[in-house]
Amino acid sequence: MAGEPDRYTHGHERATLASHGKRTAENSCGYLLPVLEAGMRVLDVGCGPGTITLDLAAIVAPGEVVGIEPVEDPLDVAREAATRRGDTTTRFELADVYALPHDDDSFDVVHAHQVLQHLTDPVRALHEMARVCRPGGWIAVRDADYAAMSWFPEVPELEDWRSLYRQVARGNGAEPDAARRLRGWVQAAELDDVRLTTSVWTYADEPTCRWWGESQAERVSGPIFAGQAAEQGVDAGELARIAEGWRAWGSAPDAWFAILHGEVLAHP
Ligand SMILES: C[S@@+](CC[C@H](N)C(=O)[O-])C[C@H]1O[C@@H](n2cnc3c(N)ncnc32)[C@H](O)[C@@H]1O
Repeated sequence: MAGEPDRYTHGHERATLASHGKRTAENSCGYLLPVLEAGMRVLDVGCGPGTITLDLAAIVAPGEVVGIEPVEDPLDVAREAATRRGDTTTRFELADVYALPHDDDSFDVVHAHQVLQHLTDPVRALHEMARVCRPGGWIAVRDADYAAMSWFPEVPELEDWRSLYRQVARGNGAEPDAARRLRGWVQAAELDDVRLTTSVWTYADEPTCRWWGESQAERVSGPIFAGQAAEQGVDAGELARIAEGWRAWGSAPDAWFAILHGEVLAHP
């Protein structure tokens, strides 16, 4: 890739990888599952810790599945997860969505979960995903929308967190309110037969809310986000206040959180 790589706002800290490691094909790819068939070749772009990738591999077996990441840290975690599952065929490789090391038309499905929102040029990424997807194959993307996230109780620190996260992500040239922009991005990438849907993650029981509150508190005060927030003039005291707000929210007996996602299924 020419120039500096995009900066990934979350980073690959323990809390982030652990949180992403809870994702499954069932809770993250419901819109994609109906088109999957045994024997398909699948590319999972920005596969993170690989739990979704490995689920997809089980569904399309004996098809070939490749997960890619531009940095090694999540790939190591993904390879360990494959070993634990006894999956010896799925490959996790170093690659960049802007310059995929794959031939034209070489996959039946090119999937990216929560990736476009972190890129400075999601349309260029979609063009490259379309290049490696065979005619009649599927491009599948799903992204959240920070402005549309909804929660209760109305802990003021969580609204501060939302403003700060969106500011930091945009400071990185990324787009945190991605779900609502997917339609425009796939139009610009000239994808075909576009199907747009939405779905929601709901956190509304005691262990899940406690986990989500603690996970967000750790992410907010971790060194990667703290460093990026400092560039926006936000100090550690402010981050500690937001982290405490997350913990307070997570321990509220009536805590509730909804994350809206936009989804696209399209042909290249
Ligand atoms: C929010 S994580 C999603 C991980 C995984 N898809 C999941 O949902 O669990 C976004 C991932 O995109 C990856 N990413 C960022 N820039 C990328 C690029 N240029 N090419 C490929 N992946 C990229 C990040 O490293 C990160 O692991």
